[in-house]
Amino acid sequence: MSASFGNVESLRVLESIASVCTGCGLSEGRTNVVFSSGSPDASVMVVGEGPGRQEDEEGIPFVGRSGQLLVKLFGEIGLERGDIYITNVVKCRPPNNRDPKPDEIDACKPYLRRQIELVDPAVVVTVGNFSSKLLLTTTTGITRLRGSAYEWWGRYLVPTFHPAAALRGGERVTNEIREDLMLVRDIIDGRISPDAEPDDDLEPESGTPPEQSEQIPLFGRDQ
Ligand code: URA
Repeated sequence: MSASFGNVESLRVLESIASVCTGCGLSEGRTNVVFSSGSPDASVMVVGEGPGRQEDEEGIPFVGRSGQLLVKLFGEIGLERGDIYITNVVKCRPPNNRDPKPDEIDACKPYLRRQIELVDPAVVVTVGNFSSKLLLTTTTGITRLRGSAYEWWGRYLVPTFHPAAALRGGERVTNEIREDLMLVRDIIDGRISPDAEPDDDLEPESGTPPEQSEQIPLFGRDQ
């Protein structure tokens, strides 16, 4: 059974617990636990997948090339790196940047849940397929999920492409991230109402392998 941190009252204490976590095998290969960066009072929280090599070395999320692009794109909507709370689904680097495994996500999920509760952002931005599908508990891929703001556990969730996809995919993907971040700006400026619930009008992607469609709810009833 994974830990519950519902009684941990500050992000600082939660981070100190995470810094010595051995809850899954990823702890064996890490250089640093990559817990978060940015403001604990942020209105916007970014959730990525997991630290890469540079993040593992520095102990800070999204400091590599894709992170620099992400920060630049947030800058275009008037938010600096320090204005946003940035974290990942898993806090330790998966070897060779592979996807986190279900037991690793399970072990790390209580940290993410408590981070969301304590930061209490107006909007959570999931970057990439992995965190978007996980938090929205859907098998629908990011290409179809993006472009909308979803009502999510008393706040909004805006899924967008991972900046690494923009580095590969060029201006079209970058511009779609820009569009999604305009939704974020609209939410924090009070100009938006959510336009879709993922389960209502989105079908699972066809061809999704069964093991990928198995979702681990972050805030499910049994959590
Ligand atoms: N990719 C992620 O998903 N998170 C990081 O922190 C860095 C790259």
